[in-house]
Amino acid sequence: MTTSPLANLATQTTELLAAVHALSTFEALREAEPFITGKRSILSTLQKSLGGLEPEARRAAGAQLQEARRTVEAALEIRRSELALAARAELLESDRLDLGDVVVSAVRWPASVGHPSLVASTQRELEDVFIAMGFTVSDGPEVESDWYNFEALNIPPAHPARGMWDTFYVEMGEPETVVLRTHTSPTQIHLMEGAVENGSLPIHSVMPGRCYRRDTPDARHLATFHQIEGLVVDRGITFADLAGVIETFTRKYFGPDISSRLRPAFFPFTEPSAEFEITCTICRGEGCRTCSHTGWIELGGCGMLDPAVFEAVGIDGDEWSGFAFGFGIERCVQMRHQIADMRALIENDVRFLRQFS
Ligand code: PHE
Repeated sequence: MTTSPLANLATQTTELLAAVHALSTFEALREAEPFITGKRSILSTLQKSLGGLEPEARRAAGAQLQEARRTVEAALEIRRSELALAARAELLESDRLDLGDVVVSAVRWPASVGHPSLVASTQRELEDVFIAMGFTVSDGPEVESDWYNFEALNIPPAHPARGMWDTFYVEMGEPETVVLRTHTSPTQIHLMEGAVENGSLPIHSVMPGRCYRRDTPDARHLATFHQIEGLVVDRGITFADLAGVIETFTRKYFGPDISSRLRPAFFPFTEPSAEFEITCTICRGEGCRTCSHTGWIELGGCGMLDPAVFEAVGIDGDEWSGFAFGFGIERCVQMRHQIADMRALIENDVRFLRQFS
């Protein structure tokens, strides 16, 4: 009588269950699986050995073996999920961030909060004054071709007037000369070109923005600074409109006891041109060191648009006329808050900054 291949099945099953139970990591389970229920397991070996049995006996043994396999597989699945849970818990534990110490030692309350820079908030205030007067606000690029920064503004290459602006060059010559804009006036050109293209004249707009000059910073100059440009193109605009806008702006922004005056000057893109001065806010016009005892402080330039500029952008100077002005925002800040040295605006000394929070 031959012994059944399954004679030791009960013991073998118990051993397999013990092996499953002994698996202590997810990794170990994965490695052991082929030897427990897979191709290299005793269960598979036994399965093959059933081939030699009589059909009747084979069916019975097959069912018995199947039963044993289900028991071992079920145990293996339970162990798999136990180990998966354990692995996940371990991961969570190792990822945990203990903020207890941090909260106590690093966060002071009330935490100090920043605020917009004086230049940024002044720019907003200036925009608001002009918006109230019916102007729109426009933007332009800080990197300009020579044509926008100079030529279209009636300053041809090598013209001596270029000396008025110490220029940072980004690209020289071919295919074109590119500069960091030395003033906001090139934005006038973009605006007029756009209006011609869209047939959207007239223009009443202000254009604030950052400008660059190869200047050595001092108490009244920075190499990187801001201007706000104004442009009006309409029918029947005269110099009186320009003077009126400047005066209205001055009183609204600096107060009723500060006024403006225009003095003849030269800019290639305006004719006639003027320098625009306001009462010195430090001495209220009495005369002091800051205003060189004149009682006046120069804020910017202005004038009626030169016919050459109209020609460059394709506006008919017989139908339209206009004026432009441009002045420094840092200079406004300085006059409004009586700041002796403009460099304080970019030094980021918190003792200075805190005064304006
Ligand atoms: N762009 C001139 C400057 O920066 C100022 C100006 C603007 C003059 C508009 C006239 C008209 O010096």
